[in-house]
This record gives sequence, C-alpha cells and structure tokens, in this order.
Amino acid sequence: MLILGIETSCDETAVAVLSSNEAGTNFALCAEVVSSQIKLHEAYGGVVPELASREHLKNLPIVLDQVLKEAQCELNDIELIAVTRGPGLKGCLLIGLDFAQGLALAHSISIIGVNHIEGHLLSPLYEDPSISFPYLGLIVSGGHTEIVRVDGVGRYSLIARSADDAAGEAFDKAAALLGFSYPGGPQLAKLADTSKNNIFSLPKVMREAEGFSFSGLKTAISLLIKKNKDALASDEELRAKLCAAIQDSIVDALCYKLKKAIKETSIRTVCVGGGVSANQCLRRSIQAIKGVTTHFPALKYCTDNGVMIAHTGALRFMRGERMELGADVKSRWPVWEVNS
Ligand code: KG4
Ligand code: ZN
Repeated sequence: MLILGIETSCDETAVAVLSSNEAGTNFALCAEVVSSQIKLHEAYGGVVPELASREHLKNLPIVLDQVLKEAQCELNDIELIAVTRGPGLKGCLLIGLDFAQGLALAHSISIIGVNHIEGHLLSPLYEDPSISFPYLGLIVSGGHTEIVRVDGVGRYSLIARSADDAAGEAFDKAAALLGFSYPGGPQLAKLADTSKNNIFSLPKVMREAEGFSFSGLKTAISLLIKKNKDALASDEELRAKLCAAIQDSIVDALCYKLKKAIKETSIRTVCVGGGVSANQCLRRSIQAIKGVTTHFPALKYCTDNGVMIAHTGALRFMRGERMELGADVKSRWPVWEVNS
C-alpha cells in the first residue's frame, strides 16, 4: 500500500510517499521532500509561528506535487494519509492537518493523525525493522528532551524529561550568546569538534534532579562569555574550546540520565532521535556505553521529515486505528498519552 506522510509541526514542510507490505514489516521509500524555512526565520533568531504557518500554506501544494511526481503516482493511488496532529506550533499543525483532511475528503482516502514524537521514537524501526522491544527512546530535539520506555507500538512510558529548555534549545541559546545565527546548534557543534576543552569549567547539569534542566547552564555560559569577552572576540581557538565545554556539558547531562535509565530498567537497547541525535559527540558518547546496543537514524531522519510520519501512521493504521474527519490539532500532546 502507498502512504502519504505530511509534517508541518514546526519550520519544515515535509512530505513523503512510502510503500509498505500488508504486515507493515517492510517499507520502501518512493519519494520525499523536506522544505526547510531556516533562511526565513534566521533574521528573527528563532521560529516566528505566524510566518511559519504562512510558509507551510504556500509550500505544501508545491512540495506535494513534487513528491507525487518523483514517486510517479497520483493521489488516487494513495491508500493512507498520515499527518502530524501534534505536538507543535498550533497554527503550523492546523495548516498541515486541514490540508491533509481536505485531500482525504476529496479523494476518499483514509487518514490518521500522528504524534510527532512517536514519529521520532519509531523512526529507527523504519530503517531497521529487526529492532526488538522494549527499548529506551532518547528524544533530543529543539522542543523536546525525553527518555521514553518503548514496549511496543502505542506502548510508551515517560522516564525523564526536561523541566525547562530542550537539549537543542540549550545548544541554540548557547550558540546565540556566542553570536552564531539561528539555529546555532550545528554550528556550535562543528566548531566544538575542532578542539578539546581544557580551560573552561561548566557545572554538571542537574545530576541529582529527576529529569533534565538546562536553564542553569545558559546562565553559567553567559557569565563565562562576559568574563572572557575580549579574549573570545579575538581568539578562535578559545571560542572552539568554549564550544567544546558547552557541548561536553550538554552531552554529559544526556548520557548521565540515559545511563541511570538503563540501570533502573535493565533495558539494553537505546534508540535516539530528534535533531540533536545528529550530534557526533553525543553519538560517540552513547555508543561508548558498555553492554548497550544503540541505534541512530540516518542524518536526514534525525531532523523533522515526512517519512517518520508516514511510517508511524502506517503502523497505527495496520493496528486498526483511524482518525475521523474534522479532527482538531493537539499542540500539547505527550507521547505517553497516545497509548493504545
Ligand atoms: O528535531 P528537530 O529538527 O526539530 C524540532 O522538532 O525541534 O531539531 C532541531 C534542533 C535544533 O535545536 C538544532 O540546533 C539541533 O536540533 N541540532 C543540533 C545538531 N543538529 C541539529 N544540535 C547539536 N548538534 C548538532 N549536530
Ligand atoms: Zn522533531
């Protein structure tokens, strides 16, 4: 069967067509396009929700056309539309959901609403269907930092989450303080990878608390930058060392809590997803955890994409789940509430 996946929860307009066998154990990519809005939001230092919604509205029909052409199919060949229903920016979700519901109605296609975080959580299964449950999912994106126990499709429980900033946000805010343009996370990481920190001391982030918290780190970084302002402005090597210290601190917090979760649950399979899972230092550190099998998505599937939405929607559809037309978005929708 052919599945159309539509993702518009933040600043990427992403559409994909997948084909699947009846059992949902074998997926093949027919076509995918991700249209990023980074250039549009860069000038504002972050995503402007109203601009993002308008951009989705403008781009969706164009991206859909392109994907259908590349997949060499028509809407009438599609058997299921999977669309992100939440969590995310309300206006952006509304554009995607209404667009998808319009297509479903006009072409009599089944439709299913997908939780975006569930998409990230199940993403490794798309590339490697042999991964077995249970596993620990570490979601590290610009809006979410969560460790979730995954016992099966639709069987999720929260282990730890961030009380304030997400890991990607922590990277981006630190990068903004250092003068990188939005989203600065990947740029900060790139400079960090050219050096090793042996100068700066940053606090170990919230080791004792239940979940994650990155807001204190931002304050510590901002103080360090003030103190070393002149030296940082003229010395690129010093900037690289500070970037390495910031990266180490965020990665250390993520790995510390992940190791704790592994110990407490005795689950020895870890799947990582979300934009920050592209970070090489994080990948190396998680892969170095002894006795644990780790799975990371291909780099293009770390960030938001239509494939993960089509894949998750198909898995749910094959379990008999459907969405009634006229459904509303769920801008706040914890993944452990989608249980079935
Ligand atoms: O999952 P995603 O594409 O969008 C959200 O749903 O948030 O994640 C985007 C986030 C941004 O904060 C970005 O700076 C961060 O992921 N990111 C990285 C790297 N690549 C993307 N952070 C650190 N190192 C990277 N290599
Ligand atoms: Zn995401």
